[in-house]
Amino acid sequence: MEQTSAAKESASALRTPHSAFPSNHQPPITNHHSPLPYGRHSVDADDLAAIVEVLQSDWLTTGPKVGELETAFAQATGVEHAVAVSSGTAALHAALHGLDLRPDDEVIVPAMTFAATANAVLYVGARPMFADVDHDTLLLNVEQVDRVATARTRAVIAVDYAGQPCDYDDLRSWCERSGATLVSDACHSLGGEYRGRPIGSLADLTTFSLHPVKVITSGEGGIVTTSNAAWATRLRQFRNHGIATDPRQREALGTWHYEQLELGYNYRLSDLHAALGLSQLRKLPRWITRRRQLAAQYDAFFAAHPGLRPLAVRPEVGHAYHLYVVRMIRDRWQIDRRALFNELRSAGIGVQVHYIPVHMHPYYQQRLGTHAGLCPNAESAYEEILSLPLFPAMSDEDVSRVVATVEQLWQRYGK
Ligand SMILES: Cc1ncc(COP(=O)(O)O)c(C=O)c1O
Repeated sequence: MEQTSAAKESASALRTPHSAFPSNHQPPITNHHSPLPYGRHSVDADDLAAIVEVLQSDWLTTGPKVGELETAFAQATGVEHAVAVSSGTAALHAALHGLDLRPDDEVIVPAMTFAATANAVLYVGARPMFADVDHDTLLLNVEQVDRVATARTRAVIAVDYAGQPCDYDDLRSWCERSGATLVSDACHSLGGEYRGRPIGSLADLTTFSLHPVKVITSGEGGIVTTSNAAWATRLRQFRNHGIATDPRQREALGTWHYEQLELGYNYRLSDLHAALGLSQLRKLPRWITRRRQLAAQYDAFFAAHPGLRPLAVRPEVGHAYHLYVVRMIRDRWQIDRRALFNELRSAGIGVQVHYIPVHMHPYYQQRLGTHAGLCPNAESAYEEILSLPLFPAMSDEDVSRVVATVEQLWQRYGK
């Protein structure tokens, strides 16, 4: 597709973010602590022992540990079936595969997410339709879904951005009325709740990532949960080339015979990864509690801050705080987000930006003709957001250090 001049302009803006220091620019604030990353895995002796146990066993690839992880995960998320795959991206691909979408079918995806959410729609040959997000929470809602829905809408992917659950009752009613499937991309929200119900049990299919910066990790890994037994069977088949049985089932039956029933992939999770994931899952309640404590400390500081505000959190949710995102109030600063990002990084505060709205990536602009102005809330948020360090092993002193550095920069650059 021919790239429009607006597309070229916004694509090049993505590649060359400018810095807007005021002319009286001073040297960066430095400190002598080691840098704090925005997110970090925690691995302890239990995790190591769990991995070693698998290394000494008969199964390294998909075997009993994957089964144990699936059972424990289904229990933790209050759903009947959990199917483990090799990544969160594979989980999205596998979930959408089961919907048997056709080339004209459309899947609604929020603009404020990681590219994998929309990419998975293209993997199954359907069309991602980018919906804007709520200004205050950066979550997809029914109002935005309505704006982009057509008679060809077959599914909606709700992304629990930063770990805050979407309004699942609303989205579910919308999907039921429209005959669409509700998929939850819960790669950020494992351990979260919505109206007291655990994430994993609220959509037709829910996908999780076990990547190291996520709430728990298996190194790399992903899980799909569903209460639909037929989908669960299909997911297991899809992760193993489309073959109906796995090697352990054939071993138990004493047969070599297998049949490939559809085209699948090698999206298997190994037992080594599963053992780590299982060991980490046991720590989930503790880590969510700690994430919430750290977020409350940030909240206490930012609640009345004149230059930065945290994203709004709705009262009916239990936030999983994969990320703690603050938003610059632009006209209160002499510098822009890029400059504040650089200053914080120079001071050893490992901030990050989540995310460049997906429709702004050159690939999507060229392939689908998306352009700046399509999702104004996501686009203006992108200019203003920063994810601050947040991970369970952070100390209260680490939070104080982040907050003190922010305050120093505010004193220097605030208006
Ligand atoms: C919202 C969202 N969806 C999907 C993914 C893909 O997960 P993975 O990296 O495990 O493939 C991620 C990972 O960053 C994500 O943040």
